[in-house]
Amino acid sequence: MRVDVVTIFPEYLAALDVSLIGKARRDGLLDIRIHDLREHTVDRHRTVDDTPYGGGAGMVMKPEPWALALEGIAVAGAEAAAPTAPQGARPVLLVPTPSGTLFQQAVAQELSTADHLVVACGRYEGIDERLFEWAGEHFDVRLVSLGDYVLNGGEVAALAMIEAIGRLVPGVVGNPESLVEESHSDGLLEYPVYTKPSSWRGREVPEVLLSGDHGRVAAWRHDQQLERTRARRPDLLPGDKTAPPLA
Ligand code: ADE
Repeated sequence: MRVDVVTIFPEYLAALDVSLIGKARRDGLLDIRIHDLREHTVDRHRTVDDTPYGGGAGMVMKPEPWALALEGIAVAGAEAAAPTAPQGARPVLLVPTPSGTLFQQAVAQELSTADHLVVACGRYEGIDERLFEWAGEHFDVRLVSLGDYVLNGGEVAALAMIEAIGRLVPGVVGNPESLVEESHSDGLLEYPVYTKPSSWRGREVPEVLLSGDHGRVAAWRHDQQLERTRARRPDLLPGDKTAPPLA
Protein backbone atom coordinates (compact mmCIF):
# COMPACT_ATOMS: atom_id res chain seq x y z
CA MET A 1 0.00 0.00 0.00
CA ARG A 2 1.19 3.49 -0.79
CA VAL A 3 0.47 6.24 1.76
CA ASP A 4 1.25 9.93 1.17
CA VAL A 5 0.88 12.35 4.07
CA VAL A 6 0.76 16.12 3.54
CA THR A 7 1.43 18.35 6.54
CA ILE A 8 3.11 21.58 7.59
CA PHE A 9 4.86 19.59 10.35
CA PRO A 10 6.64 16.67 8.63
CA GLU A 11 8.62 15.98 11.82
CA TYR A 12 5.39 14.98 13.59
CA LEU A 13 5.24 11.89 11.37
CA ALA A 14 8.67 10.60 12.46
CA ALA A 15 6.84 8.07 14.66
CA LEU A 16 6.02 6.16 11.47
CA ASP A 17 9.67 5.01 11.42
CA VAL A 18 9.20 3.10 14.67
CA SER A 19 7.90 -0.35 15.66
CA LEU A 20 5.61 -2.45 13.44
CA ILE A 21 4.79 0.31 10.95
CA GLY A 22 8.48 1.25 10.68
CA LYS A 23 9.37 -2.39 10.03
CA ALA A 24 6.59 -2.71 7.44
CA ARG A 25 8.09 0.31 5.64
CA ARG A 26 11.56 -1.22 5.67
CA ASP A 27 10.09 -4.54 4.46
CA GLY A 28 8.40 -2.75 1.54
CA LEU A 29 4.85 -3.58 2.68
CA LEU A 30 3.98 0.08 3.29
CA ASP A 31 5.39 2.80 1.03
CA ILE A 32 4.81 5.86 3.25
CA ARG A 33 5.94 9.29 2.02
CA ILE A 34 5.72 12.52 3.98
CA HIS A 35 5.30 15.84 2.13
CA ASP A 36 5.72 19.40 3.41
CA LEU A 37 2.74 21.49 2.30
CA ARG A 38 4.93 24.61 2.29
CA GLU A 39 6.91 23.17 -0.62
CA HIS A 40 3.81 23.95 -2.67
CA THR A 41 3.52 27.64 -1.82
CA VAL A 42 4.61 30.27 -4.32
CA ASP A 43 5.29 33.32 -2.12
CA ARG A 44 8.38 34.37 -0.20
CA HIS A 45 6.74 33.70 3.18
CA ARG A 46 5.51 30.24 2.17
CA THR A 47 2.00 31.19 3.25
CA VAL A 48 -0.51 28.38 3.79
CA ASP A 49 -3.31 30.26 5.60
CA ASP A 50 -5.38 33.44 5.55
CA THR A 51 -8.25 35.09 7.45
CA PRO A 52 -11.75 33.58 7.14
CA TYR A 53 -14.34 35.19 4.85
CA GLY A 54 -17.31 36.23 6.98
CA GLY A 55 -15.03 36.98 9.95
CA GLY A 56 -14.44 34.96 13.06
CA ALA A 57 -11.53 33.64 15.04
CA GLY A 58 -8.50 31.85 13.66
CA MET A 59 -7.11 31.25 10.22
CA VAL A 60 -8.19 29.05 7.30
CA MET A 61 -5.84 27.01 5.10
CA LYS A 62 -5.68 28.29 1.52
CA PRO A 63 -6.83 25.81 -1.13
CA GLU A 64 -4.10 26.39 -3.71
CA PRO A 65 -1.05 24.87 -1.94
CA TRP A 66 -3.22 21.84 -1.12
CA ALA A 67 -4.34 21.41 -4.73
CA LEU A 68 -0.75 21.65 -6.00
CA ALA A 69 0.46 19.11 -3.44
CA LEU A 70 -2.40 16.68 -4.07
CA GLU A 71 -2.16 16.97 -7.86
CA GLY A 72 1.51 16.03 -7.77
CA ILE A 73 0.79 13.05 -5.51
CA ALA A 74 -2.12 11.81 -7.64
CA VAL A 75 0.01 11.91 -10.79
CA ALA A 76 3.02 10.22 -9.15
CA GLY A 77 0.74 7.58 -7.60
CA ALA A 78 -0.93 6.78 -10.92
CA GLU A 79 2.47 6.46 -12.63
CA ALA A 80 3.77 4.18 -9.88
CA ALA A 81 0.62 2.02 -9.69
CA ALA A 82 1.17 -1.66 -10.28
CA PRO A 83 -0.08 -2.82 -13.69
CA THR A 84 -2.40 -5.16 -11.73
CA ALA A 85 -4.10 -2.22 -9.94
CA PRO A 86 -7.73 -1.77 -10.98
CA GLN A 87 -7.92 0.71 -13.85
CA GLY A 88 -9.40 4.04 -12.86
CA ALA A 89 -9.43 3.30 -9.10
CA ARG A 90 -9.11 6.69 -7.46
CA PRO A 91 -6.81 7.19 -4.49
CA VAL A 92 -8.53 7.72 -1.13
CA LEU A 93 -8.07 11.20 0.31
CA LEU A 94 -8.36 10.87 4.09
CA VAL A 95 -8.91 14.18 5.88
CA PRO A 96 -8.77 13.98 9.70
CA THR A 97 -11.18 16.55 11.12
CA PRO A 98 -13.40 16.75 14.21
CA SER A 99 -16.31 17.44 11.85
CA GLY A 100 -15.89 14.16 9.97
CA THR A 101 -17.67 10.84 10.30
CA LEU A 102 -16.34 8.53 13.04
CA PHE A 103 -13.18 6.59 12.18
CA GLN A 104 -13.99 3.08 13.40
CA GLN A 105 -12.50 -0.39 13.02
CA ALA A 106 -14.81 -1.14 10.07
CA VAL A 107 -13.46 1.97 8.31
CA ALA A 108 -9.86 0.90 9.00
CA GLN A 109 -10.74 -2.55 7.64
CA GLU A 110 -12.22 -1.11 4.46
CA LEU A 111 -9.33 1.30 3.87
CA SER A 112 -6.73 -1.43 4.46
CA THR A 113 -7.63 -2.80 1.00
CA ALA A 114 -6.91 0.52 -0.79
CA ASP A 115 -3.87 0.71 -3.07
CA HIS A 116 -3.23 4.39 -2.45
CA LEU A 117 -4.12 6.50 0.56
CA VAL A 118 -3.41 10.22 0.79
CA VAL A 119 -3.75 11.88 4.21
CA ALA A 120 -4.25 15.65 4.37
CA CYS A 121 -3.36 17.03 7.80
CA GLY A 122 -5.14 20.34 8.29
CA ARG A 123 -4.31 22.93 10.94
CA TYR A 124 -5.94 26.11 12.27
CA GLU A 125 -9.70 26.30 11.63
CA GLY A 126 -9.49 23.85 8.73
CA ILE A 127 -9.06 23.91 4.96
CA ASP A 128 -11.09 26.07 2.53
CA GLU A 129 -14.22 24.00 1.72
CA ARG A 130 -13.72 24.34 -2.05
CA LEU A 131 -10.62 22.16 -1.81
CA PHE A 132 -12.85 19.17 -0.95
CA GLU A 133 -15.21 19.89 -3.86
CA TRP A 134 -12.23 20.03 -6.22
CA ALA A 135 -10.60 16.95 -4.69
CA GLY A 136 -13.81 14.95 -5.23
CA GLU A 137 -13.04 15.00 -8.95
CA HIS A 138 -9.73 13.18 -8.42
CA PHE A 139 -10.00 11.31 -5.11
CA ASP A 140 -12.44 9.29 -3.04
CA VAL A 141 -12.63 11.95 -0.30
CA ARG A 142 -13.28 10.84 3.32
CA LEU A 143 -13.53 13.36 6.16
CA VAL A 144 -13.02 11.37 9.34
CA SER A 145 -12.85 12.10 13.06
CA LEU A 146 -11.04 10.16 15.77
CA GLY A 147 -13.71 11.09 18.31
CA ASP A 148 -15.63 13.91 19.91
CA TYR A 149 -12.73 16.05 21.01
CA VAL A 150 -10.55 18.60 19.27
CA LEU A 151 -6.84 18.19 18.52
CA ASN A 152 -4.61 21.01 17.32
CA GLY A 153 -4.34 19.51 13.86
CA GLY A 154 -4.64 16.37 11.82
CA GLU A 155 -1.16 14.93 12.45
CA VAL A 156 -1.87 12.97 15.64
CA ALA A 157 -5.11 11.66 14.12
CA ALA A 158 -3.21 10.73 10.93
CA LEU A 159 -0.73 8.70 13.01
CA ALA A 160 -3.58 6.84 14.70
CA MET A 161 -5.41 6.18 11.44
CA ILE A 162 -2.32 5.06 9.52
CA GLU A 163 -1.44 2.66 12.32
CA ALA A 164 -5.01 1.29 12.54
CA ILE A 165 -5.14 0.81 8.76
CA GLY A 166 -1.53 -0.25 8.21
CA ARG A 167 -1.61 -3.07 10.78
CA LEU A 168 -4.49 -4.65 8.83
CA VAL A 169 -2.45 -4.81 5.61
CA PRO A 170 -1.50 -8.48 5.13
CA GLY A 171 1.99 -9.23 6.45
CA VAL A 172 2.33 -6.14 8.67
CA VAL A 173 1.32 -7.97 11.88
CA GLY A 174 3.36 -11.17 12.09
CA ASN A 175 0.62 -13.36 13.55
CA PRO A 176 -2.66 -12.55 11.76
CA GLU A 177 -4.57 -14.46 14.47
CA SER A 178 -3.87 -11.61 16.86
CA LEU A 179 -6.07 -9.40 14.63
CA VAL A 180 -9.06 -11.70 15.04
CA GLU A 181 -9.59 -11.64 18.80
CA GLU A 182 -9.10 -7.98 19.56
CA SER A 183 -11.41 -5.23 20.70
CA HIS A 184 -13.89 -4.06 18.03
CA SER A 185 -13.03 -6.81 15.53
CA ASP A 186 -16.31 -8.58 16.46
CA GLY A 187 -18.17 -5.52 17.73
CA LEU A 188 -17.32 -6.22 21.38
CA LEU A 189 -14.49 -5.17 23.69
CA GLU A 190 -11.69 -7.67 24.21
CA TYR A 191 -11.74 -10.07 27.21
CA PRO A 192 -9.22 -9.53 30.06
CA VAL A 193 -5.81 -11.17 29.61
CA TYR A 194 -3.30 -12.58 32.12
CA THR A 195 0.26 -13.95 32.04
CA LYS A 196 2.70 -15.60 34.47
CA PRO A 197 2.97 -15.79 37.41
CA SER A 198 -0.43 -17.36 38.14
CA SER A 199 -0.34 -15.82 41.62
CA TRP A 200 0.87 -12.22 41.91
CA ARG A 201 0.74 -10.06 45.05
CA GLY A 202 -2.10 -12.18 46.39
CA ARG A 203 -4.11 -12.01 43.16
CA GLU A 204 -4.91 -15.19 41.26
CA VAL A 205 -5.45 -15.76 37.56
CA PRO A 206 -9.09 -16.94 37.06
CA GLU A 207 -9.14 -20.70 37.57
CA VAL A 208 -10.81 -21.43 34.21
CA LEU A 209 -7.74 -20.14 32.33
CA LEU A 210 -5.55 -22.75 34.04
CA SER A 211 -8.02 -25.59 33.38
CA GLY A 212 -6.84 -26.49 29.87
CA ASP A 213 -10.53 -26.84 28.88
CA HIS A 214 -10.69 -24.86 25.62
CA GLY A 215 -14.49 -24.91 25.50
CA ARG A 216 -14.81 -23.45 29.01
CA VAL A 217 -12.11 -20.87 28.26
CA ALA A 218 -13.90 -19.73 25.09
CA ALA A 219 -17.27 -19.48 26.90
CA TRP A 220 -15.72 -17.55 29.82
CA ARG A 221 -13.98 -15.14 27.45
CA HIS A 222 -17.19 -14.47 25.55
CA ASP A 223 -19.06 -13.77 28.83
CA GLN A 224 -16.28 -11.39 29.85
CA GLN A 225 -16.52 -9.60 26.51
CA LEU A 226 -20.26 -9.09 26.99
CA GLU A 227 -19.91 -8.00 30.62
CA ARG A 228 -17.14 -5.53 29.79
CA THR A 229 -18.96 -4.12 26.81
CA ARG A 230 -22.17 -3.74 28.89
CA ALA A 231 -20.22 -1.93 31.64
CA ARG A 232 -17.93 0.26 29.54
CA ARG A 233 -19.54 0.64 26.11
CA PRO A 234 -23.26 -0.22 26.26
CA ASP A 235 -23.70 1.80 23.05
CA LEU A 236 -22.01 -1.07 21.16
CA LEU A 237 -24.70 -3.60 22.14
CA PRO A 238 -27.81 -4.14 20.02
CA GLY A 239 -30.94 -2.48 21.36
CA ASP A 240 -28.94 -0.17 23.59
CA LYS A 241 -30.94 2.78 24.90
CA THR A 242 -27.90 5.01 25.38
CA ALA A 243 -26.95 4.88 21.68
CA PRO A 244 -27.78 8.11 19.83
CA PRO A 245 -30.93 7.72 17.67
CA LEU A 246 -30.28 7.15 13.98
CA ALA A 247 -30.98 10.26 11.94
N1 ADE B 1 -8.25 17.19 13.97
C1 ADE B 1 -8.56 17.90 15.07
N2 ADE B 1 -9.31 17.20 15.90
C2 ADE B 1 -9.51 15.99 15.31
C3 ADE B 1 -10.23 14.84 15.66
N3 ADE B 1 -10.93 14.74 16.79
N4 ADE B 1 -10.22 13.81 14.80
C4 ADE B 1 -9.57 13.90 13.66
N5 ADE B 1 -8.88 14.96 13.26
C5 ADE B 1 -8.84 16.01 14.08
